[in-house]
Amino acid sequence: MARALYGPGGFFVRERPADHFRTSAHASPLFAAALARLVCQVDTALGAPATLDLVDVGAGRGELLTALLAELPPPVRARVRPIGVEVTMRSWDGISWRTDLPRGLTGVLLATEWLDNIPLDLARDGRYLDTGLNPGDPLSPADAAWAERWWPAGPDEVIEIGRTRDEAWADAVAAVSAGLALAVDYGHLREHRPPRSTATGFRHGREVPPAFDGSTDITCHVAMDSAAAAAGPDHVLLRQRDALHRLGVDGRRPPLTLASTDPIAYVRALSTAGAGAELTAPAGLGAHWWLAHPVALPHPLPLLP
Ligand SMILES: C[S@@+](CC[C@H](N)C(=O)[O-])C[C@H]1O[C@@H](n2cnc3c(N)ncnc32)[C@H](O)[C@@H]1O
Repeated sequence: MARALYGPGGFFVRERPADHFRTSAHASPLFAAALARLVCQVDTALGAPATLDLVDVGAGRGELLTALLAELPPPVRARVRPIGVEVTMRSWDGISWRTDLPRGLTGVLLATEWLDNIPLDLARDGRYLDTGLNPGDPLSPADAAWAERWWPAGPDEVIEIGRTRDEAWADAVAAVSAGLALAVDYGHLREHRPPRSTATGFRHGREVPPAFDGSTDITCHVAMDSAAAAAGPDHVLLRQRDALHRLGVDGRRPPLTLASTDPIAYVRALSTAGAGAELTAPAGLGAHWWLAHPVALPHPLPLLP
């Protein structure tokens, strides 16, 4: 998975994520607008620092950062230092790009659909599986301990060892000195682990079998509870649907009376409602998880009561 995605000529080294799959970041500007409201809440809780870091880890081509910056009120925007972290460096007006995590951040660190692309191992009956799902070496003590704590499985069941995601997320949260770290991703909790492997490929908008030659994306759902625990006890884990409702996004249709009083406003509101409905759909993007870790925030955030 690591070689196919990030090795020489690997999928993400070559490709633009948005050409292959659609995340919340691409579904609608409502997502960036909601995150902008969250960034403002963090800014207020931090007492409007002179520099507010805004870091997007796994930033693709900077689509979310660009949309988010456009949604921020000018007095906040003027203090924001936007940073995109990606496996290959990009250059973009107004955004600093880097391949490693910056440290000592004051502000917000975002990671939307990043953790599901962190390479992991599959295992069955205490042994690693190769890409053809054939058993190989026994699990290392650290992976065996992870499996026992987070994914106890019966004979013949395939598990996805999330330790690499836990470590990546703990490291990202540790990069924030004050503010908020937020991961948004699809995943599962211990009591509802999937019965079979979630390894999936995407190419040009289609779901395809994962290929390990760099020709497809390869993604596995995220064990959100283990990632949460790895990064510290002070966190909130909620569904995107609930998070977006708290940030003022929903899929409610405008009142029909608006159609006769202001038809243009009605059509606009209908379109917004459609985008809100997609982002909050209980069986779609709305079922994604928001894992939020506040760090040294003097005041609680409205998102995280
Ligand atoms: C599924 S895409 C998500 C893109 C974007 N955040 C979105 O929501 O549309 C995951 C991205 O994470 C990047 N990525 C994975 N591991 C990374 C790492 N260790 N450092 C920086 N970027 C990474 C990949 O290159 C890829 O662009």
